[in-house]
Amino acid sequence: MSTDTERKKVSLPALYRMKADGRPIVMLTCYDYPTAHFQDQAGVDMILVGDSLGMTMLGYETTLPVTMDDMIRHAQAVRRGAPHVWLVGDMPYMSYQPSTEAAIRNAGRFMAEAGCDAVKLEGGREMADRVAAIVASGIPVMGHLGLTPQSAGALGGFRLQGKDAHKAKRIIDDVAILIDAGAFAVLLELVPEQVCRIAAERSKEAIIIGLGSGPAADGQLLIYHDMFGLYPHFRPRMAKMYADAGKIILDGIRQYRAEVTDGE
Ligand code: KIV
Repeated sequence: MSTDTERKKVSLPALYRMKADGRPIVMLTCYDYPTAHFQDQAGVDMILVGDSLGMTMLGYETTLPVTMDDMIRHAQAVRRGAPHVWLVGDMPYMSYQPSTEAAIRNAGRFMAEAGCDAVKLEGGREMADRVAAIVASGIPVMGHLGLTPQSAGALGGFRLQGKDAHKAKRIIDDVAILIDAGAFAVLLELVPEQVCRIAAERSKEAIIIGLGSGPAADGQLLIYHDMFGLYPHFRPRMAKMYADAGKIILDGIRQYRAEVTDGE
C-alpha cells in the first residue's frame, strides 16, 4: 500500500495477489470528492460507493429510495477524488432485481458514466444469474451476503445473520455459488467470525471482505460515517469509531454561531 501521490492504480490482479500473500485489503465507503481524496492519499485499496448514501448523505430512512442517477452522481465525485483506488459502485434497489438485462445495463452505467472498476449487488443463489450475466459483459462483480440492507426488513432488522448451523451453512454455500457465477469478491456483513473464516479459507482466489464479521476475512470494510460519528441517528456497535468528528463539527458550528451573534 502506498501513501504518496505517485501511487499506482489498484488493479484486480494486485488485489488477488494481496489475498494470495495474506496481506489484508483495506476498504471504506465513500460518497464525495474531498473524502475520496483523503482516502486515496491514505492508501485505501478499495472504495465502495454504497447505496447507504441514501441515509448518510440524502437523509432517507432506508436505502430503498436511492436511484441509479443518485449513485452515478456520487460515484463520479468519488472517482474524481480517488483516481487510484479500486472503485466499486453499489447497485441500488431494483436496479438489478427485475431482470438480467436491467442488471447488465445498470452495471454498465457505473463503468461508462462513473469510471467504476466493479459493481456490488446483494443476494445469494437467487442472484447468481445476475452476477453471471454482468461478469459475462466484462464487469467485475462483488457479492454481498449476511445482513443485506435492501432486505433488512425481511431479515428482522440490522442484526447478526447466520447464527444457527442451517443459516450459517446457507451463507457459506451461497458464497461458493456467487464465486462459481464469477464474483471476484464477496462481502460478508454481520455474520459470525467462524462463517467468515470458513468462507475465506475455502475461497482460493476470490476475495472475502468482512464488515462486522471478525478478523479472518481477506479484507475489511468500514462505513466511513460510522468511523467518524458522522451519522446522527445510528451507531452500530460493531463499528469502531476513530474520532467523533460529528461532535467536533457541531461544537465548531456552535462556536461560530456564538461569535456571530455576539458581534465578534
Ligand atoms: O451501502 C453500503 O454502504 C453497503 C454496506 C452496508 C456494505 O452496502
